[in-house]
Amino acid sequence: MLKVDPIDPEKEIVGEAIRILSEGGLVAFPTETVYGLGADSFNRDAVKRIYSVKGRPPDNPLILHISDFRELEVVAREVPSFVYELASKVWPGPVTFVLKKNDLVLPEVTAGLPTVAVRCPAHPVALSLIRGLGNPIAAPSANLSGRPSPTTADHVIKDLSGKIEMILDGGDTFFGVESTIINLTTDPPVLLRPGPVGVEDLERLTNLKVLIPAFAKGLGEAGVALSPGTKYRHYSPQTKLILVESGQCITQSDYLEYVKSLINEYLRERLRVAVMCSRETCSSYGNLTKLEVGSRNNLYEVAKNLFKKLREIDELGADLAISESFEERGVGLAIMNRLRKASSRVVFCVPTRQRVTID
Ligand code: TXA
Ligand code: MG
Repeated sequence: MLKVDPIDPEKEIVGEAIRILSEGGLVAFPTETVYGLGADSFNRDAVKRIYSVKGRPPDNPLILHISDFRELEVVAREVPSFVYELASKVWPGPVTFVLKKNDLVLPEVTAGLPTVAVRCPAHPVALSLIRGLGNPIAAPSANLSGRPSPTTADHVIKDLSGKIEMILDGGDTFFGVESTIINLTTDPPVLLRPGPVGVEDLERLTNLKVLIPAFAKGLGEAGVALSPGTKYRHYSPQTKLILVESGQCITQSDYLEYVKSLINEYLRERLRVAVMCSRETCSSYGNLTKLEVGSRNNLYEVAKNLFKKLREIDELGADLAISESFEERGVGLAIMNRLRKASSRVVFCVPTRQRVTID
């Protein structure tokens, strides 16, 4: 593991990583979203190793990382002109496009699909690796399959230590949730995974309505053909996690009252309960074990802390954890998608006065 300056990466360190990649090795590196596990996308053995190191199902394709939107034609074909226009506005940045695949792209990268997922990351370390290698880098998140994506080099070590050639430690990633994925081969475009860039922003930039299927909210499963990764359970801590959705509760006080009553039910069963809460609400849980995830008024902060806090749940020695939910606007859609996938149970808030007890 080598430390690297995230803004102005040292040439020698980047050079060493490029050498490893060009020899078919695997390098974990920071992007603006989460850490990626990179391989030269034109090296079949290196790409195959990504799957075995992560324990990733072979039908779950990888994202290709390019360093300039003009490199799109290397990996995709029949790219409509509106895509270039959109790319020039959102790249480098945390948005991935699904496009028709070019023949050059290995089937191992796309898991046999006729489409390819591609993005140009905004992180200086990621960009200098891609530029230096001269080929697109295939990189899933650098976690063991099913675990929360890594937002620090420490997370990568916990999951992949000893299994890969190099980890570049560029400190905390900037956004903390993975890129927004949008399928641009369909009309209308379909959101496959919400991320840092909100659907509202993409619609404004494309003048197109974007379809948001239920699975993109973390509800239900996608058809295999749509986005293979969405069918897998993800991000889950070992500890049982219960997500409390806002349900019929409109006011924050109704919502809090419900969460507290739920917690009390578990405490009466003598279970050790932890709660994942916002800065605004954490103080209302008294001396319960708390994980403060950020402010409701700054959902980017919540997104940035989310995976770290999900990993911390298992260190609390709790029997179960209860998580508050967040508003589904902008990056909030990504937060709720990840929380729903991470939780083993979802309950819906009902205002206390509306609850009927049957005896
Ligand atoms: O922010 C990110 O996107 C990070 C960083 C490292 O760039 N990468 C990342 O990769 O999150 P990964 O492998 O953890 O997630 C990629 C997702 C998976 O859900 C996969 O199924 C989907 O992208 N995907 C890849 N190729 C696809 C395709 N051709 N069609 C539909 N979905 C695709
Ligand atoms: Mg992943």
